Amino acid sequence: MARLLVLALTLCGVFTLAAFTDTFVESLSFASYFSDHMVLQKSPESAVLWGYGREGRLVTVSLSGPVHQKTSPATVTGGVWQVTLEPVEAGGPYSVTASVQGSVLALTLTDVLFGDVWLCGGQSNMAFKTDQIFNASEELALAQTYPHVRPFMASLKMSNTELIDLIQVQLPWTVPTAGSVAEFSAVCWLFGRYMHDILKYPVGLVESCWGGTPVEAWSSARALEKCGLQQSTDGTSSRKKNAWERNSVLWNSMIHPLLKMTIKGAIWYQGESNSMYHQDEYKCSFPAMVDDWRTAFHEGSGGQTASDFPFGFVQLSTFQKGSTGDAFPNIRWHQTADMGYVPNPLMPRTFMAVAMDLPDETSPFGTIHPRYKRDVAHRLTLGARAVAYNEKNVHFQGPFPKEILSSGRHVNITYDQTVSVTRSINAFEVCCSGIQAPCGPQSLWVPAPVKQLSPTTVQLCSIFCPIADKVVAVRYAWRDWPCDFKACSIYSAGGLLPAPPFLSECCPGNQNHTL
Ligand SMILES: *[C@@H]1O[C@H](CO)[C@@H](O)[C@H](O)[C@H]1NC(C)=O
Ligand SMILES: *[C@@H]1O[C@H](CO)[C@@H](O)[C@H](O)[C@H]1NC(C)=O
Repeated sequence: MARLLVLALTLCGVFTLAAFTDTFVESLSFASYFSDHMVLQKSPESAVLWGYGREGRLVTVSLSGPVHQKTSPATVTGGVWQVTLEPVEAGGPYSVTASVQGSVLALTLTDVLFGDVWLCGGQSNMAFKTDQIFNASEELALAQTYPHVRPFMASLKMSNTELIDLIQVQLPWTVPTAGSVAEFSAVCWLFGRYMHDILKYPVGLVESCWGGTPVEAWSSARALEKCGLQQSTDGTSSRKKNAWERNSVLWNSMIHPLLKMTIKGAIWYQGESNSMYHQDEYKCSFPAMVDDWRTAFHEGSGGQTASDFPFGFVQLSTFQKGSTGDAFPNIRWHQTADMGYVPNPLMPRTFMAVAMDLPDETSPFGTIHPRYKRDVAHRLTLGARAVAYNEKNVHFQGPFPKEILSSGRHVNITYDQTVSVTRSINAFEVCCSGIQAPCGPQSLWVPAPVKQLSPTTVQLCSIFCPIADKVVAVRYAWRDWPCDFKACSIYSAGGLLPAPPFLSECCPGNQNHTL
């Protein structure tokens, strides 16, 4: 008897096609995040495609476009089929067809491009929409001129268990329009658009982030365990946690479902929530999450996503002007695993956009949400070019001290590059202590004026330590809100990139200290 009915359902970007015959129900669908207009990871990596079908059936995927391909059949096991394409060079458009062997059932995705896929994660400053930034209308008018930068957004969903697929898709892959980009992450969009200007091939952007969330929500049990946080429950917390702040709930529902997707790298803007929650632990929990995501994406994609894929992040911007609290400085420091700069031996293949000099006192979205996302994205792009794309001679790191010398009366700081210095009386502070290092509760931080000595060296002078005290530590920009817009004390030559904040014990017995 002939097949009676072919039924197509479109539900939240999931395409389901079922054909009913007199003997059995055939079915075939792609996983939630496969759709028309999508970007699949280009060569040298291979894209992984998967979906659902009838147990035991054979599913083949074919590609037609600039090149043609047909995969060998994959057997539906546990309701799921999965194939890995041969590597495809950047470009398109392609049609991708999945078909069930021995059946007329087939599903085709059209206008599929191959390029680099970047995952964008974090909390509200990553979720911050393009229509909220400064000069948003200018930016949105450009959206349609970037048809090869394709956004996709996961819905905000939680789960107590690890899911293999997204519960819901907020924005299916789309050719960008002013309307879709307006609602999309500004940092993610701008990063993709700027990278496209450099790469000149398609860029896929996967936004999966949620405002007000701590790193613990985005971390697997395996990552939390490394930092002794796995057992941490509401009971041990000083305050009652919201549902979306609990351990692993967003890892489970918004990251774990994406693990089979081959990606080039990830960018991340988060940490504000951890300034109030497990602040000290962040020096462990953030690098542990990065490592764990790398392992998980590598395994999830069958080895396609690099096990050390590039991971870029934004160092916290500013929150409260005039605050004397050190929550933001501490998180900024912990974001680098307490080394002050990245990449470093604890955080290889990472890159960081310093943002403490981009405060926005009159942001209608609260001072914690500065509207200068172009600068943030631009600085991320520099890091990506150097770290992810191995471009030589891209200046992507602000100055960092390589040697600190003290005579007791003054401190000389030698940077790793030429610095552009604005004289300041309090950008730097020294810790005066009657005992030798470390700088403890009995010690005193006092402001130390700075002046430039040579192209790479600054001097802190007129140090007002009590006479019997020694300088045991030096810190720079150790404030929630260290300066006005692009007006911090130390920049790279030409004022291009801000020096990140640092904290260094130093100068015991006036000896040299090398960072
Ligand atoms: C907004 O656009 C104007 C005119 O192009 C420009 O002068 C200004 O610097 C822009 N502001 C920001 C914050 O980008
Ligand atoms: C700091 O630099 C100045 C100028 O080069 C030099 O005279 C002084 O000895 C240096 N101090 C230390 C502690 O190295």
